[in-house]
Amino acid sequence: MVEEILNCGRLAPSTKNRQPWYFVIVTKKTKDKIADMMINYTINTNETNERELLGHKSSVNPTANVIKQAPLLVLIFREKNDNWIIGDNLSIGACVENMCLRATDLGIGSLWIKDTIYVAEDVAKMLGHEDMELNCALALGYASQFPKMRPRKRLEDIIEWYED
Ligand SMILES: Cc1cc2nc3c(=O)[nH]c(=O)nc-3n(C[C@H](O)[C@H](O)[C@H](O)COP(=O)(O)O)c2cc1C
Repeated sequence: MVEEILNCGRLAPSTKNRQPWYFVIVTKKTKDKIADMMINYTINTNETNERELLGHKSSVNPTANVIKQAPLLVLIFREKNDNWIIGDNLSIGACVENMCLRATDLGIGSLWIKDTIYVAEDVAKMLGHEDMELNCALALGYASQFPKMRPRKRLEDIIEWYED
């Protein structure tokens, strides 16, 4: 089932068909180590830069706990290429969304994770993938909770028909 989910990621469209993704699946000790690296990051950094003030760091611990509870974490790496950053990031979004949708189809819970960015360089180094950039991660597993969907903006508030 994991390979089926990854295959749906592989089939996603991408800018110039660059397919800029590479998946590393981690379980057990390595997965938990990444969660610990994230927790240590929150303990050891006392940054007061704009990003921290906006509360970006506040979700890192809860995310690390999800990683610990999930049996498996897919790390999504991006080929380093400064000429294609925006296109490649958009493509990776399509790829990960494909995987989330397939996981849901298969009855598997997923959490799309950006909080790994705080430890991206260390994770890449640990796994011997300094040639690439850790873009995000996807935790997969059978869900123990089924929370209500979080609120969304109303359709009428985000649509504008620009008519001549
Ligand atoms: C690109 C992306 C990155 C995300 N990163 C995280 C994350 O690091 N930690 C987390 O708990 N949730 C993360 N989420 C989940 C969002 O918080 C969640 O999708 C959003 O609040 C809407 O909730 P829902 O998906 O349950 O409807 C991420 C979602 C996306 C699309």
